[in-house]
Amino acid sequence: MAKGVVVHMKPKNGHSHRSAPASKPRRKAQAAAPPPPAPAKPRTGMSTKKLIEESRRWLSIINAHKLNDYKRRKIATDTLDNFKFYYNRGYLEYRKSVTEGGEFAAIEWSGQGSYFHDITGRKYIDCLGGYGIYSAGINHPKIVRAVKSQLERMPLSSQELLDPLRGALAELLGEVAPGDLQESFFISNGTDAIEGAMKLARMYTGKPGFISTIRGFHGKSYGSLSLMGKGEYRKPFEPMLEDVFFVPYGDATAVENELRKAEAVGHGIAAIVVEPVQGEAGAIVPPDDYWPRLRDICTRFGVLLIADEVQTGMGRTGKFFAVEHWDVQPDILCLGKALGGGVMPLSAFMSTPEIWKVLEPNPFIHSSTFGGNPLACAAGIAAVNVTLEEDLPGQAAVTGEYMLAELRKIQKRFGDHLIDVRGKGLLIGLEFVDTEFGYAVAAGLFKRGVVVAGTLLNAKTIRIEPALNIPRALVDEVLEKLEETLTDLTD
Ligand SMILES: Cc1ncc(COP(=O)(O)O)c(C=O)c1O
Repeated sequence: MAKGVVVHMKPKNGHSHRSAPASKPRRKAQAAAPPPPAPAKPRTGMSTKKLIEESRRWLSIINAHKLNDYKRRKIATDTLDNFKFYYNRGYLEYRKSVTEGGEFAAIEWSGQGSYFHDITGRKYIDCLGGYGIYSAGINHPKIVRAVKSQLERMPLSSQELLDPLRGALAELLGEVAPGDLQESFFISNGTDAIEGAMKLARMYTGKPGFISTIRGFHGKSYGSLSLMGKGEYRKPFEPMLEDVFFVPYGDATAVENELRKAEAVGHGIAAIVVEPVQGEAGAIVPPDDYWPRLRDICTRFGVLLIADEVQTGMGRTGKFFAVEHWDVQPDILCLGKALGGGVMPLSAFMSTPEIWKVLEPNPFIHSSTFGGNPLACAAGIAAVNVTLEEDLPGQAAVTGEYMLAELRKIQKRFGDHLIDVRGKGLLIGLEFVDTEFGYAVAAGLFKRGVVVAGTLLNAKTIRIEPALNIPRALVDEVLEKLEETLTDLTD
């Protein structure tokens, strides 16, 4: 348990009481072991009456306009208890919001633009963007307004009548997407978009196989997990889908060789699935000829090219879709994260009329109860509007170039520890000598009120993904705080 985090035991009667703060164990990032097994289930056996009271208490918190200090502190301590006993105590070990939170863990409460606040009123500059969901900033007024209006009219869909917003968002995306990527299917998570894309590719080609990239990340449900290029996330869940072959990222020749091998031994390959810039792997930008070569190879071998733009889409890299940097049209394109405008979960896979036709004879061959619901589509329509009207891709290109240049100047001063600065637009990676140092930087920034990616388990490369409209003054503040943190750590 982290220093200063107040430990709560749940006694049988369901009331929390305080015990002494535990001291922080010395942490070695690379040696981080799984948390010890959860303690015996401390269920309090709440009666129905107590359950109603407890839910009512939370509803009053949700609906409150103001909370006094006592209530705020109680929410903080209750949240720790609830994660510990009812959710997953592992988070308490690894989240820097807990381990570096001081007397009270940082409990997320509100946000606006490039800032968010924790329950005790501490303010943070958001340079993580929820791993890419807040491209338009937190709580963008136009997006929130659209969702609120739709919420009051009709929150979810009857599933029988045609929903106009689903059609409208499909039209907007079909018009903005490159080439003849024209038709869309909507769902909620990035992983759902990849699942749909994989099914579509198999159905259209009649072939089972996929090529994916080492360290590629496409989600954690079984299909997308089968494409996962990181062993630690696959191993406990094997066996995966068969016929998935891995090649190094950025190496088009390796893709061609793999397809030759597959052809020689009679493995049918439906598609290759690639991120335009590898996000989770640490903002890895491929060589400039990579995507054009992939396009050419896929066309020659009769294999579909799937662009996973879950993280890079909606302007993140400086273009609406990252594949536009190389003027390439994939056969299937997946979106997620920022598509919901940072307000609703929303993802999509898109393809051409030629490929889409296999989904038409039985449109329920792939369906989802909540996919394309009116609230999510209202958010998506507003997100497209804001992305275009505020030129978020253009802002990402300009701010990203500035930030990368300034970060490289910092790297020159701290080259022994900050070994690489890379990225495209505002998908930026800072690579450090090791995970421990990277985590110390992420934690140092956190203490200075700047939130970047980087957990105890995964901080060798820290990702910086702020809102695409982050003001220049805030970027300068972040750069100053990074410099201060690095000076502190290396003095
Ligand atoms: C490129 C890419 N694809 C897919 C996903 C999975 O998205 P989700 O977590 O919404 O399922 C992610 C998530 O980080 C991603 O970065």
